[in-house]
Amino acid sequence: MQDIIRQLEEKRAQARQGGGAKRIEAQHAKGKLTARERLELLLDPGSFEEWDMFVEHDCTDFGMAEQKVAGDGVVTGYGTINGRATFVFSQDFTVFGGSLSAAHAGKICKIMDSAMKVGLPVIGLNDSGGARIQEGVDSLAGYAEVFQRNALASGVVPQISVIMGPCAGGAVYSPAMTDFIFMVKDSSYMFVTGPDVVKTVTQEVVTQEQLGGAVTHTTKSSVADNAFENDVEALAQTRRMFDFLPLNNREKAPVRETWDPINRQEASLDTLVPPNPNKPYDMKELIEKVVDEGDFFEVQPNYAKNIIIGFARIGGQTVGIVANQPMVLAGCLDIDSSRKGARFVRFCDCYDIPIVTFVDVPGFLPGTAQEYGGIIKHGAKLLFAYAEATTPKVTVITRKAYGGAYDVMSSKHLRGDVNYAWPSAEIAVMGPKGAVEIIFRGEIGDAEKIAARTEEYRQKFANPFVAGHRGFIDDVIMPHNTRFRIARSLAMLREKKLENPWKKHDNIPL
Ligand code: HXC
Repeated sequence: MQDIIRQLEEKRAQARQGGGAKRIEAQHAKGKLTARERLELLLDPGSFEEWDMFVEHDCTDFGMAEQKVAGDGVVTGYGTINGRATFVFSQDFTVFGGSLSAAHAGKICKIMDSAMKVGLPVIGLNDSGGARIQEGVDSLAGYAEVFQRNALASGVVPQISVIMGPCAGGAVYSPAMTDFIFMVKDSSYMFVTGPDVVKTVTQEVVTQEQLGGAVTHTTKSSVADNAFENDVEALAQTRRMFDFLPLNNREKAPVRETWDPINRQEASLDTLVPPNPNKPYDMKELIEKVVDEGDFFEVQPNYAKNIIIGFARIGGQTVGIVANQPMVLAGCLDIDSSRKGARFVRFCDCYDIPIVTFVDVPGFLPGTAQEYGGIIKHGAKLLFAYAEATTPKVTVITRKAYGGAYDVMSSKHLRGDVNYAWPSAEIAVMGPKGAVEIIFRGEIGDAEKIAARTEEYRQKFANPFVAGHRGFIDDVIMPHNTRFRIARSLAMLREKKLENPWKKHDNIPL
C-alpha cells in the first residue's frame, strides 16, 4: 500500500512537470504561463478537480515508446468561476508542443461528453501544434472525435476557446467551431499551417504574426472575437464573459444584483443625437449609459466597427446588445457587419439571452465591392437570424431606420416584442434627398421645387409618427428614460414563450 501511494505521488509529480523544467522555462521566457498556471487563474482558487492525470499515449513509432509523459499534453477536469461550474481543458505546449494524440483527444472528449450530460460549458485553453505527427491517422481520428462533439455541443452548452500559443491545423478548427475565441497578443497564432509550409506551397514569405497573429484575426479575418495583452488578462476577461452566460440552453442566464436603479434617468441622452442628421454620434455612449453600472463586454470591438455587439446587464439580467454605430460608415450595414451581427444574434437566441437592438442605420452599403462580395447573401444572414430568433427582442430606434435595414434591425415585422423610437427617429424607405431625387427626377433642374419636395418628404417621414400610426413602434420614448423603459419591457418578457415550426434545422444562407 505504502509503495502504491509513493508511486502515485511520483506520477503526480511527473505529470505536474509536463515536458520538464527546461521547456517550462522556455514557455515562461516567451511570456506564457504553463497549462496548470493558466487553470489556476481561470478557475476559483482550490476549485479545480483534475481528471485523467495518468493517461499516456500508446504510440510506439518514431521512438515514442520511450517518450511518455503522464497526462499526455493536456490537463482536463472541471472547476468553478465565481461559484459556477465549468469543464475545462488546458493544453501543455511543453509536452510534444501540446499536439493532439489519440489519448489526448480521448481526455478532451471525456470532459465534453460529461459537460453535455450535466449541462455545463466547456472552456478550452489552446496551445497546440495540432495533430501529433508521430501518430498519423490516429491523431486525425482524435481530432474528428473532438470536432463531432463541438458540433453536437453547439447551442447546448457554451463553448469558449482561448488561444494561448501557436495553434495549427486541428488546433484551430476545433476552436473555430466554438462560440467565442479569444487570443493573446504577441504570443498566440492561429493558422491552418505555419509560415514554413506556406513558403513551400505558395512561395509566400510571411511571419507567424502576419499570417495568424491576434491583430490579423481580430481586425482582418474576424476569426477571433477579441485579443488581450497577456495570459493573465485573457483569463480574467474569460471569467468576466463567463459570468454573463447561462450554463446551458435549458437554464436562464444568472441574474446579478446591481446597485444601479432601473429607473435611473440619463438627461445627457436627450442631446446625444445631433440636430444635423448627417452628423455622427457615439452609440457606445448610449449603450454605456443605459446598461447596469456602465458595464459592457464588447465582442469583436476591432472588426466591422459599424456594428457594435456585446453583453451587458439591465436590471441584473444579461442582455445581448446589437447596435449600429453612426461613427463608422454612418452605421451602414455591409458584409462584415451583417456577418458579425448575425452570429451574435444566433448565439443569444441559442441561450435565450434577450436582445436589445439600438438602431441608427441609413441602409445597406451600396456598390460593386459589396455586391461582388455577396452582400445580398451576407445581409440575409442578419435578417434571417433576427427573423428566426424567439428570444425576447427589444428595439430602440434612435435616428435613422431606412429601407431594408429598418426591416432587418429587429423590426416589429420580425417579431420584435417591444419596439420604441426616440423623438429623433426617422423611419422611411430612404433619406429625404435620395428619395426626392428618385420620385421627382423630372424636377431635378429646379432647385426651389426640389427643396420644397425635400422639405415635404422630411415633414412626412423624418419623424416616428407614420410608423407609430400603424403600430410598427409601440411608443415614442424620451431618451433619458430609455434604461427604465427597456428594463420594464425585459421584466414583462421574462417568461416569453414562442416556438418556431418543427423542422430538422433551418437553412440560413451561409
Ligand atoms: C508532434 C510537435 C508538433 C506536432 C510541435 N511539436 N508540433 N510534435 N506533433 N504537430 C513539438 C516539436 O517537435 C518540439 O518538440 C515542440 O513541440 C515545440 O515545437 P517547436 O517547433 O520547437 O516550437 P515553435 O518554434 O514555437 O513552433 C510551434 C509550431 C511548430 C508553429 C506549432 O511546431 C509547427 O509548425 N508544428 C507543426 C504544425 C502542424 O503542421 N501540425 C499538423 C497540422 S495537421 P521538442 O521535443 O523539441 O520540444 C492537423 C490536422 C487536423 O492538425 C485536421 C484538421 C481538419
